[in-house]
Amino acid sequence: MAVSMDKLVALCKTRGIIFPGSEIYGGMGNTWDYGPVGVEIKNNIKRAWWKRFVQESENSYGLDAAILMNARVWEASGHTTSFSDPKMDCKKCKTRHRADTLIEAHSKGKVNPDGMTNEEMETYIREHEVHCPNCGGFDWTPIRTFNLMFETSRGVTDESQNKIYLRPETAQGEFINFLNVQRTTRAKVPFGIAQIGKAFRNEITPGNFIFRTIEFEQMEHQWFCKEGTDQAFYEEYKTRAMQFLLDLGFKAEHLRFHDHEKLAHYARAACDIEYLYPMGWSELNGIHNRTDYDLTRHQEYSGKSLLYVDPVDNSRYIPYVIEYSIGADRLMLAVLSEAYDEETLEGGEIRNVLRFHPAIAPYKAAVLPLQKNLSEKARAVEKLLKKRFFITYDEAGSIGKRYRRQDEIGTPFCITVDFDTLENDTVTVRERDSMRQIRLPIQELTAFLDEKISF
Ligand code: GAP
Repeated sequence: MAVSMDKLVALCKTRGIIFPGSEIYGGMGNTWDYGPVGVEIKNNIKRAWWKRFVQESENSYGLDAAILMNARVWEASGHTTSFSDPKMDCKKCKTRHRADTLIEAHSKGKVNPDGMTNEEMETYIREHEVHCPNCGGFDWTPIRTFNLMFETSRGVTDESQNKIYLRPETAQGEFINFLNVQRTTRAKVPFGIAQIGKAFRNEITPGNFIFRTIEFEQMEHQWFCKEGTDQAFYEEYKTRAMQFLLDLGFKAEHLRFHDHEKLAHYARAACDIEYLYPMGWSELNGIHNRTDYDLTRHQEYSGKSLLYVDPVDNSRYIPYVIEYSIGADRLMLAVLSEAYDEETLEGGEIRNVLRFHPAIAPYKAAVLPLQKNLSEKARAVEKLLKKRFFITYDEAGSIGKRYRRQDEIGTPFCITVDFDTLENDTVTVRERDSMRQIRLPIQELTAFLDEKISF
């Protein structure tokens, strides 16, 4: 069921999924804190991605590079000169906006500002009388470009301080460690390097909840391959990226490819997978054929050879790179929107459910004693299962209310301990989506949950 963004934000707060950042100090734009339920969901998303693209992938290796890097990295990557957004201020209400976003919103996505110069964007905004989305005014400053990188400094004394940056993407860590990984794993091209980590961007535009934030996590995978094989791998990664989402339970009609018409000068192909978010279709992840651009630039700027030596024919070359990049927080927003459901039960009662894939659900099961005097046995079941799974326990209120509470945070199974449990060591297991119940011996619970949550 489609959910509005306001509803999603409100339910995330009340269910301990996501809280507004720095809330008791009046908040801080485009920052969010993950609560006890949210952190489990996000960890499960990252685990599922890592399992698919590192653990189960042939010839892919993990990395956790530093957030702070030598500033030359960002010169080589081009971020210091061209990682900027075209910003305009509304003179009336003093809010700041991205010119390209204003054009996209005004044209309802029909005009793609990607290829426009600043002058062309200013002309469009003037001629189409694009008003300020905040106050409705029509009095803009000219476009100015702002670099999106957060700067900080490093040094012992004020005089010796050097400007450094919080990384705006994790990808450069993979590029600069390309030979370290290749040599230590003895990987042969083609091979991949994957990384999950924080990235920071001084985003000014309204974020649409966790869709666009100033601090976020990226899950990036760079596939190093020989020129000539690159386009086939690009197509393969498109398929793999889409399949990952479908396997997580996304409906095919909520996803679509958006092939880029205008490419960066070094790119051979690029596309996004878009998702139908509460605010409409928007980017979820990107897949790019980046050619040998990044490694060539790092070789040039570092003065260190990044040539790969082919062990079969001794040829030396800089590999091409297929990049697959997805934001963990943006995927979290898509997962939450996709899982949200309001089911009308017989009799008209509304049941709120988050229908997560069990692998993504924050708790795999809730242990519920039918009555409080069964808590000792129920606690023993909880203790047994906690060794293997995230389990929650609830003994407050009627069993019906407790089931609903678990439905609301997407717990796939409720395990009820009743008086028969004391006699024969069996429990009732209720499944979230169908609400069907089965009876199982306690000793079979671990295998049962293992099978159900596998991804
Ligand atoms: N290394 C390539 C790269 O960073 P990108 O399209 O700028 O490409 C990749 O970012 C992904 O990171 C996006 O598809 C999106 O999922 C996520 N992302 C980018 N900016 C974000 C932001 N401000 N907030 C949350 N997620 C973001």
